[in-house]
Amino acid sequence: MKSGGGHRNYRKDTLLAHLGRHPEVQHGAVNPPVYHASTILSSNMAEWEAKRDPKTRFDVVRYGLLGTPTSFALEEAVAAIEGGYRAMLMSSGLAAITAPLQACLKCGDHLLMVDSAYGPARNFCERVLTRCGVATTYYDPLIGEDIARLMRPSTKVVYVESPGSLTFEVQDVPAIAAAAHEAGAKVLMDNTWASPYLFPSFARGVDVSIHAATKYIVGHSDVILGAVVTTEEMYLKVRTMAADLGHCAAPDDAYYALRGLRTLGVRLERHEKNALAVARWLQTRPEVSRVLYPALPEDPGHALWKRDFLGASGLFGMVLKPASKAAVYAMIDALDLFGIGSSWGGFESLILPTTPERIRTATRWTAEGPTLRLHIGLEDPQDLIEDLDRGFHQLRAAMPA
Ligand SMILES: Cc1ncc(COP(=O)(O)O)c(C=O)c1O
Repeated sequence: MKSGGGHRNYRKDTLLAHLGRHPEVQHGAVNPPVYHASTILSSNMAEWEAKRDPKTRFDVVRYGLLGTPTSFALEEAVAAIEGGYRAMLMSSGLAAITAPLQACLKCGDHLLMVDSAYGPARNFCERVLTRCGVATTYYDPLIGEDIARLMRPSTKVVYVESPGSLTFEVQDVPAIAAAAHEAGAKVLMDNTWASPYLFPSFARGVDVSIHAATKYIVGHSDVILGAVVTTEEMYLKVRTMAADLGHCAAPDDAYYALRGLRTLGVRLERHEKNALAVARWLQTRPEVSRVLYPALPEDPGHALWKRDFLGASGLFGMVLKPASKAAVYAMIDALDLFGIGSSWGGFESLILPTTPERIRTATRWTAEGPTLRLHIGLEDPQDLIEDLDRGFHQLRAAMPA
């Protein structure tokens, strides 16, 4: 795709392969170079002054903190894939959550936060926003248009995350966005599960889309990075707050993310195929009470997922039949291919026990037995199934007869 060319209606997979690349200004190299830069020199005072024009502050290479051609390349690609106006990078997914919240809320404001949000996002509300005089109300992820009843004159943000962390409820984002906008509030969404590729958040009414690029965008479990994509209306507000807070991304990390982005479509397709194979097998197991994966037709969120998403990623949950902690630990310890560790979205499979019942405040998480989270990687799904089969054998062996 030649820079300045007229063919701008390419489909998403074509854009993934071509956006953010400008070989003609980099000696023909396919990938953009990594700019390690703090100081950016101006050749004279007129150029120095021009670069400081507040209107174009975030469009020019002026100071490493405000971006380099490496970060601009990734921002251009991520925003276009999701259908947003522009993107900005942060040092972590968590920073991509906190900076937009800070941009949109001030003392006296009210925030509606989904009860199934990523835990550290809740911590930020409890430990930081309360100190700034911002009140948070947690709401049922399944509330839909009834969110209107919780809106106050001071409600400035409705925060959604769909599917929810750990429990995977699908939210009716268009209905929530319509109610929020009617009341003058903005919708911030943690869209990490679907990535910019599988949930077109702006077409569904979202104003600010948040990504832990650490997960599928980077895709290789070797970088911590955040990205925020916004509408045109929200861009300067959020971008200015991010700059005021000193957020930025390391150049090598932006490069790795851009390299990961090139294969996002094919990786996600395989994550979904493998996850569906493992999830369907889990549904047949006597040790499993239910599988929490909206891509399954039996999942309560399936209809909404089918309506609003373009596919599923490889992260889901399962609830076991009643089992002791020791038995669950014996099962996990017996697994050979599933790693025990935080994060997800890389090429490899992971498993962890979770405790959503300890986090909720607006709703109760009631499960028949222990809840676990699985990330299904790019391995052969049959090997993953055989590994889990070995794990279940240990689970049974560790249970009292
Ligand atoms: C849904 C979700 N959002 C945000 C984050 C935060 O990302 P990071 O670890 O890059 O700060 C995570 C991390 O696990 C996550 O699962």
